[in-house]
Amino acid sequence: MTDRTMEASAHACANIALAKYWGKADAKWNVPAVPSISLTLDQLVTETQVRFDSALKDDVVRLDGRRATAREAQRVVAMLDRVRHEARFRLRAKVTSHNRFPTAAGLASSASGFAALAAAASAAAGLPFNARRLSALARASSASAARSIYGGFVELPAGGHGDSGLAARPIAPPEHWNIRLVVALTEPGPKKVGSTEGMERSRKTSPYYQAWLKSAPTWSRKIKRAVKERDLDMLGRAMEQSTFAFHCCAMTSVPPILYWAPGTLAALCCVRGLRERGVGAWATMDAGPHVKVLCAVGEAARVRQALDRTEGVTRTWLARPGPGVEVHR
Ligand code: DP6
Repeated sequence: MTDRTMEASAHACANIALAKYWGKADAKWNVPAVPSISLTLDQLVTETQVRFDSALKDDVVRLDGRRATAREAQRVVAMLDRVRHEARFRLRAKVTSHNRFPTAAGLASSASGFAALAAAASAAAGLPFNARRLSALARASSASAARSIYGGFVELPAGGHGDSGLAARPIAPPEHWNIRLVVALTEPGPKKVGSTEGMERSRKTSPYYQAWLKSAPTWSRKIKRAVKERDLDMLGRAMEQSTFAFHCCAMTSVPPILYWAPGTLAALCCVRGLRERGVGAWATMDAGPHVKVLCAVGEAARVRQALDRTEGVTRTWLARPGPGVEVHR
């Protein structure tokens, strides 16, 4: 065989779910059971390079300068296999990925990571750029990653059994609404129970899971309308309900999953206090202890300062609406 290498790189931003995804309709194809809506964020970026190389005997995966663990590598190889299948070749790849934010802080990296990997691997394999296809490919690895293919405000519909082509779609570009997200870190270290495992446990054991499935589409519809109308109060109210409802499912799972740290509650009380003083600030959380606060541009400095002064908050970040995935050859 002649020597052959094909490479490309891509970068993708993380996203924050405004309407939360929690629970799968089909675990094999990784199909979400509820619709979700997100905002892509400019600050939390993953850069990934993929090189298919006929000299390689196995796939090599490096994350943030270290060799990936067996579990991490398995998820990366599963995506490479899907790309190889589509491109009809068997070349092994070297994948090198860097997060421009500390993964150890427990901030989500799977969304930006799998979105960047889907785009870089597809481009390296010579597949033409198609955002919808990339979104479905990213979704098969991590559903939140499907949303990071697009910039700004994005929705991922719920799917059904065997819905292998399910993809996210854009609602509005980043410039539609110049809002801010203040990220308040409350505890170092990776999350205790990964979201994949957590949501499966909720599905199987939480008595509140059916109620969540019933209510989630209503919040999602409200949030989509609020995004279109740029109505922060409507968005904030529905977003907090969506967050607390999925955390209720987590907490009432068997055994229970409590993602919260003392700083979590302190930050949530800080947000409530800000609202009582007339500041439009609204909280959301992922499967971890950190609190993310949505507010108008003009309030961002005040919100950040209040969170910085909150006991248990170790660090804050300011993010704004960000772009979709970008490929470089
Ligand atoms: C709480 O997308 O990480 O952040 O599809 O199993 O990889 P998998 O799960 P993942 O779950 C994200 C859950 C969430 C809410 C959200 O981002 O919608």
